[in-house]
Amino acid sequence: MTRLRRLRRSDRLRALVRETRLDLDDFILPLFVGPTTQPNADLPALGRHSVEDLVSEAEEVSRLGVRAVLLFGIPEEKDAEGSGAWDEDGVVQCALRELREAAPGLVLMTDVCLCEYTSHGHCGVLEGDEVDNDATVERLARTAVSHVEAGADAVCPSDMMDGRIRAVRAALDESGFEETPIVSYAAKYASAFYGPFRDAAESAPAFGDRRGYQMDPANVREALRECELDVREGADVLIVKPALPNLDVIRAVRERFDLPAGAYNVSGEYAMLKAASARGWLDERQAALESLTAVVRAGADLVVSYWTKELATWL
Ligand code: PBG
Repeated sequence: MTRLRRLRRSDRLRALVRETRLDLDDFILPLFVGPTTQPNADLPALGRHSVEDLVSEAEEVSRLGVRAVLLFGIPEEKDAEGSGAWDEDGVVQCALRELREAAPGLVLMTDVCLCEYTSHGHCGVLEGDEVDNDATVERLARTAVSHVEAGADAVCPSDMMDGRIRAVRAALDESGFEETPIVSYAAKYASAFYGPFRDAAESAPAFGDRRGYQMDPANVREALRECELDVREGADVLIVKPALPNLDVIRAVRERFDLPAGAYNVSGEYAMLKAASARGWLDERQAALESLTAVVRAGADLVVSYWTKELATWL
């Protein structure tokens, strides 16, 4: 008789036949930098760091074994254009210059988007009530170049404008950064799971929503078209976001494309488990490890996760 339980009888046996393993090398820790430090008691990984503080946090996580961080900036002042995004003395640019010195081994990635920098909270410049695609793309390209000039190892456009990968690639190449990879959030859905992030980054749209540029969660073929375009435009990595509600999309991207494929386990996914474990309903560590294993099993080669620092001690 076939008895599958034979290989489940001990930790050692289970480990021998385990198909999916989490490796800290594949994880990216998001970090928020702003004018002042503002800890977040309930959701610690969504706390905000001053530049000085960020440097010590980066040194600490780097010592723990974290390999890569993804920076988000919250500027002192926002304006209609989001000009803080490409300011060479902007919060992310200053942070990058400091981190480059303090944590030379850490892979420094940056989110490239305008929503944290615009007074209206949309991911680009407005034309009436709509985000103007091409005017936004030009500003995103400028932002990406300013990040690389300040020391970023990779840029991650997350705005979902059409044609932005081509524009970012061209701008980087013209500035002599042919070697800098673009990690594209190729399939980014208009998701309710970004809520805690928007509180942390103060980037909730002041009117309307993001459904005019982010994807409809009902679509998977469209996600593959987004990926196809980004590949043609020069993306080096494709990211699906959020992760858990879209495991089928991660799988489809992994099967269709040979580029590295990643997933962003977003703030709402983190907050759900934090809230449930604070109530004693779930064991956070077990639930987080199970979730992240599912994301990797679905096909993600790299994962952005708010648990990356904990993972360094859990694994
Ligand atoms: C946009 C951006 C967002 C997230 C990452 N980049 C927010 C949004 O699109 O509203 C969300 C990440 C998360 O929820 O953890 N720059």
